[in-house]
Amino acid sequence: MSVLTIKDLHAKVEDKEILKGVSLEIKGGETHAIMGPNGTGKSTLASVIMGHPRYEITGGTITLDGEDVLSMSTDERAKAGLFLAMQSPAEVPGVTNSDFIKTAMNARMQDGENVSLFKFIKSLDEAVSKLKMREDLPHRYLNDGFSGGEKKRNEILQMRMLKPAIAILDEIDSGLDIDALKVVGENVTEMKHKDLGLLLITHYSRLLDYISAEHVHVMMQGKIVKSGDTSLMHKIDEQGYDWIKEELGIEDERVIPEEEEINDNVLGTCATREALGE
Ligand SMILES: Nc1ncnc2c1ncn2[C@@H]1O[C@H](COP(=O)(O)OP(=O)(O)O)[C@@H](O)[C@H]1O
Ligand SMILES: [Mg+2]
Repeated sequence: MSVLTIKDLHAKVEDKEILKGVSLEIKGGETHAIMGPNGTGKSTLASVIMGHPRYEITGGTITLDGEDVLSMSTDERAKAGLFLAMQSPAEVPGVTNSDFIKTAMNARMQDGENVSLFKFIKSLDEAVSKLKMREDLPHRYLNDGFSGGEKKRNEILQMRMLKPAIAILDEIDSGLDIDALKVVGENVTEMKHKDLGLLLITHYSRLLDYISAEHVHVMMQGKIVKSGDTSLMHKIDEQGYDWIKEELGIEDERVIPEEEEINDNVLGTCATREALGE
């Protein structure tokens, strides 16, 4: 059974501190949900756990079964059993979905070993049908021209195939209609296992109707400000987040006040520059 332990984690981007002391422990067999309004640092936490190079860790620790995660590359983190289903998965023209999954599976095997092609195809077909995906999706380029809902299902397809020890699903419910949400929810629930630690990041409680989470946390201002059980989720469902802000004396729940946010154009330009190696 794996244990992911996050202690007093601080991280910044472009000189702005986004995570301001996050502590959380997820064990195999447990399902945790992090809820919270927009701009409170939820996706940043997910990116930092997977080792996105844009974020600078300025304090705290992350360990997986006692091993220092922060000193691992993103590849090594995946190999160690960490998995992130991204809020906005990237399109990768030129690499087919099935090649991508096969490469990722092989990377998780011992040196020199490969997944059997026969078993791979069989389990991929099975996963595609369980997720009620179009049969051609594995053979198309990764996320290229996929609809929002197809991208989300595809993240769960990868999870089914990779069988991670700790899986983080960032807003897997966003952009899904109710039928797709049901399919995704049922698939994730079916994958629940005494060895799988699940972290669901979500805005709304409706995801938690399909995947039950026994630990519920609320994130505001770059840290977890409240934790509880499903009753916390129900209260948020009925009353929103204002009562928590009032209780804790929080005026603005965002990490960066809206007017100071780094605007998307600047971000886009930075990303393009990075991609061009400038
Ligand atoms: N790469 C980045 N560059 C600049 N600002 C960022 C970046 N990532 C996150 N932020 C800022 O950090 C804050 C928290 O963002 P995020 O973690 O995406 O929140 P959430 O997922 O809770 O909506 C936002 O103000 C966002 O603009
Ligand atoms: Mg987010």
